[in-house]
Amino acid sequence: MTITTEEQLEQLKAIGRICALARETMAAAMEVGMTTRELDEIGARLLAEHGAQSAPIVTYDFPGATCISVNEEIAHGIPGDRVFREGDLVNIDVSAVKDGVFADCGASYILGKGDQRLVNLCRDGKKAMWAGINAVKAGAPLGDIGDAIGKFAKKGGYTLIRNLASHGVGDSLHDEPGEIPTWPDRSERRRMANGLVFTIEPFLSLGGRMADQKSEDDEWTLISRPAAPCVQYEHTVVATPRGAVVVTLAA
Ligand code: CO
Ligand code: CO
Repeated sequence: MTITTEEQLEQLKAIGRICALARETMAAAMEVGMTTRELDEIGARLLAEHGAQSAPIVTYDFPGATCISVNEEIAHGIPGDRVFREGDLVNIDVSAVKDGVFADCGASYILGKGDQRLVNLCRDGKKAMWAGINAVKAGAPLGDIGDAIGKFAKKGGYTLIRNLASHGVGDSLHDEPGEIPTWPDRSERRRMANGLVFTIEPFLSLGGRMADQKSEDDEWTLISRPAAPCVQYEHTVVATPRGAVVVTLAA
């Protein structure tokens, strides 16, 4: 989606806020002994209460309202019988649609007391996302985003998952202009159109380089290759001449 009217921006901010609220409500409710399905139901209820529909269900018939990925799972985890344990690294990704407008956000959390390496990874995962967001400017090269994130990751000795890209969003969950790399990519020659709506969602890892299917009978859940802890933080943003407007904020 490319924003051209104030009404579009208001609708995008409305669904962005709902997505963020669902994700934060879920994160606050998460506890040891709860199943990922129970946590998903909390998100599903919040979306319904706000008149929004789950984008993964509407778009892909995904078997859950939200994606919940635990430990070795890095994305597109299916809510189910898995029980949360102390110290789990949990990614919650919420995307939804209201009045035909889609937004998408995600974040990783440590349940209770976690390994210090994971605490640092979460802290820096957020910073990696903001390095990308701070590179947003209408008219600037789209490749600036991946360059900024790549520079940050390299400085910290981290790796980036290089086959899970950011993407346009708004009129659909995965919208024009398609995939946007969150790693340095010399073949990325496009520029950010004024009003362009897209996600910024780097996957920062302690060694992971590629996302791969978890098992043959699960077409959704992704794990890291090589196996390594991985976090993702995601906002939906609008490119403007003055920088990014972040729309997936809860308040
Ligand atoms: Co996304
Ligand atoms: Co997402």
